[in-house]
Formats: sequence, structure tokens, C-alpha cells
Amino acid sequence: AAANIGVVGMAVMGSNLARNLASREGNTVAVFNRSPERTRTLVGEHPEAGFVATESYDEFVASLAKPRTAVIMVQAGKGTDAVISELVSRFEPGDIIVDGGNANFLDTIRREKEISPSGIHFVGAGISGGEEGALKGPSIMPGGSAESYETLGPILSSIAAIAEGEPCVTHVGTDGAGHFVKMVHNGIEYADMQLIAEAYDLIRQGTGKSPAEIADIFAEWNTGELESYLIEITAEVLRQTDAATGQPLVDVILDQAGAKGTGAWTVQNALDLGVPVSGIAEAVFARSLSSRPAQRAAARDLPGPSGDWRPDDEDAFVEDVRRALYASKIIAYSQGFDEIVAGAEQFGWEIKKGDIAKIWRAGCIIRARFLNRIADAYSDDPELVVLVSAPYFRDAVAGTQDSWRRVVAAAAYAGIPTPAFSSSLAYYDGLRAPRLPAALVQGQRDFFGAHTYKRVDKPGVFHTLWSGDRTEIETSPSSH
Ligand code: 6PG
Repeated sequence: AAANIGVVGMAVMGSNLARNLASREGNTVAVFNRSPERTRTLVGEHPEAGFVATESYDEFVASLAKPRTAVIMVQAGKGTDAVISELVSRFEPGDIIVDGGNANFLDTIRREKEISPSGIHFVGAGISGGEEGALKGPSIMPGGSAESYETLGPILSSIAAIAEGEPCVTHVGTDGAGHFVKMVHNGIEYADMQLIAEAYDLIRQGTGKSPAEIADIFAEWNTGELESYLIEITAEVLRQTDAATGQPLVDVILDQAGAKGTGAWTVQNALDLGVPVSGIAEAVFARSLSSRPAQRAAARDLPGPSGDWRPDDEDAFVEDVRRALYASKIIAYSQGFDEIVAGAEQFGWEIKKGDIAKIWRAGCIIRARFLNRIADAYSDDPELVVLVSAPYFRDAVAGTQDSWRRVVAAAAYAGIPTPAFSSSLAYYDGLRAPRLPAALVQGQRDFFGAHTYKRVDKPGVFHTLWSGDRTEIETSPSSH
């Protein structure tokens, strides 16, 4: 037994994570892949890593020092269960199995429940940062037992990204907490990407600027409060020219966005939890709409706005879009954190919101200067009820909301689809409204289904006898 940690699954993420682990002082990494060619290639290409190459589960498990630690990096789904059962049948109490894939947290909860009676620790860990992050330092969101984190914490800290001197890893909570938080990370990622895409579309359609010119705008934005990985790569993508046609690459990419499911999970769980993550939902739906070519073809001739819309002042419009993007982004993150709070309550996790903001500051796809502000907001007030109400964000919205409203109005007028911008603004206005028309909805529900309502002026539950004399009755004794 020569290795202190092992990695199963030598696709790009697994290989890169194994190389990252191997590059840290004191680590010897055992590697295994179902088809041994991949392992041989990796080990051949990276002799400096000193990998222990193995070609069977028996060999892999035998190569690990006890207590054993193995990280599974295979595509989430059935494959994960198969690998887990191979390891569980060979592991002993005290050993640790980490699932570093994008597993559904409900699967992680189930797996942990099945495995923990054996004394083996099962840890679902969200790992963000794509291929480069896995190699150079990802943001890591481990769940599982606190006991397993005593062993895992130092190893994961050594390979994680560093933000202001702190490694981007924390014990998120028990069982599926890590994969839950990774799921919400991805939901926010979807919203952020959609918002950026809408900003691009508004500027392109509104001003006729070329993708390369818009790339310059994004690069400029990346020097200010919007500074983030996603803004940075947006500039790179927009600047790219297609070698075959000489066109901007963005103009030759088919406009149908794919998805592997984590965004949809975020929304599905938010629906179950009753948390309005409208920005994330619109981002998921925008991808769905884009990927329905038959419907889009059938709708191509539908009427749009009659007049041509152009901003009076292009520079002012671009600045409005920037501010609207910032405001909408605040809402997307605020909604994501709401879901984390609701999930923690539902599943019994103690998740520290400030710690999550901190481990997202570097390494992950949504890393951004902005995350420092969120971390600050939660450190100033750990019980903050809704992120957008923190003083910094309240001021930020105060300074941007006129722009936000102008942009959403202009988009509607011009017929440019901005589902994420528009829904974020609607959410914001709904949230701050002193009275909502939900009162009328309650009245309608009571009318057709005797679903009852509460009153603003006294406790109790009431029903109006709509099909009788329309007097009001109290349907359950009021509690004072
Ligand atoms: C990350 C990414 C990563 C992956 C997503 C993309 O945090 O490193 O989120 O997990 O890129 O799965 O998701 P879609 O393919 O659904 O866009």
C-alpha cells in the first residue's frame, strides 16, 4: 500500500484532479480507470506525478494505505453506483469514498444512508472549476460526516483554489449538503450566463455593434464591479473569429443551448421547497426554448414590434445594460442563497452562508469580485433574511434600478427577449411590494373551492358563502 489517496475515472476531470493531488507535497496518488488505456496514457504523459497505476479494483484498493481514501470522478448517474459498489465491497470501516461528480444530492443522501451502516464514510463533494480548476485549484463543496472531514479537510485544502489566502473548501454539511450547494452553484451559473447573454443581445440588436466591439465592452466591464470569470470568458468568446468562414465564431455556432441537468434540478428542488428562483428558472427555460427548432421555425413569421427601436444615446444605453446586468445578478445570487437556506432547513443541514460565499470566490465557474461583497454581507449579519436587503446591495440596486427599468422597457418595446432581466426586476418589485395581488388570488380560490383565507385585521381562517348570501363565516377557531 503505497498511495495515500486514489482517483477512479480518468476522463479529463479525474485525470486533472489526480495530477493536482499528485503535485502536492506528500501525496502519492493511485489511479484507476475501467479501460486501462486511459490510465496508461495519463501515467505515460506525466511521469513526474509518480502515479501508482492500477488496472483492477483489487489492485487499486490494495495500493491504498489505510484508512483508505478514494475519489470517484465518473459521469454522474448509474456508473457512479457501480463504482461505489466495487469499492464498498473491498473497503473497511473508517475508509472514505468521495464522489466528486455532479451527482444529484438526493442520490448522495440515498448512497450515504446505504453505505454508512458499514462504517465506511461516503462523501458527496461538489467540485467546480471545469478542467482547468480540477488541475490548478477548484472550489470544493464536500458533504458527508464531520469525522470524514478531519481526514479529507487537509487534503482538499491543499488542492483547492486560494481566495485571499484561504482555501476554497469547507465542510458544507452532512450527507448530500455538498452536492446540494454545488447544484445551486450551477443554477446560479445558468442565471449568470443567461444574463450575460441577454446583455450581449441587447447591445448587439440595440446598437448594431459587432461581436468584437462588444468583446471590448465586456473586457472593460471586467475591470469594474462586474469582474468575474464568466464576463472574462464572454469577451474571449465574442472576440473569436471562425477560421473556416472568417465570421465571428458566435455567429456560426448553432443557437441551441445544451444542458446536463443541474440547472433543471436547482429549479425542481426550488419548486419543491417553495423558493422563487425565477432568474434561474428563466435561464433553464431560455435554453429549452432555444433547443426547440420546430416551434421556433413555426413561430418565425409571428408579428414583432411595428417600429424600429434604437437608443438615442448608444453609450448611455450600454451603461444602462451594464447596470441592469449588475442588478439582475444580485437578484440571481439572492435567490440562490434563499434556496440554500430553505434546503438546509428541509434536510437538516447547518450551512453557513458566508462560508459558501467565501469558497465561491475563487476556483469555481461563478467566481467573481462580487462574491466578496456577499461574504461581507453574511459576515456583517449571519442571519440576513434576504441578500438583496443587505446595505451594500440595497445601495447597489438603488444606483442601478432606473437603468434596469429602462432596459427592460426598451427590450419589451424592441422585441428583444430578456427573460432573466425582466423576471429579476419583476421579482424585485414583488419582493418589495407592501401589498400583492395574492389577496385577490386567495379570494378567487375561496370562491371556487372554499379554500379559505386569512384577514389582515384579525386572526382566524375565513370563508365567504359565495353561492349563498355572501356573508363571511369563520371556519376554524381563531387562536389568540
Ligand atoms: C463547474 C461547472 C460544471 C459543468 C456543468 C455545465 O462548476 O465546474 O458547473 O459542473 O460545466 O455541468 O453544465 P451544463 O452542461 O448543464 O451547462
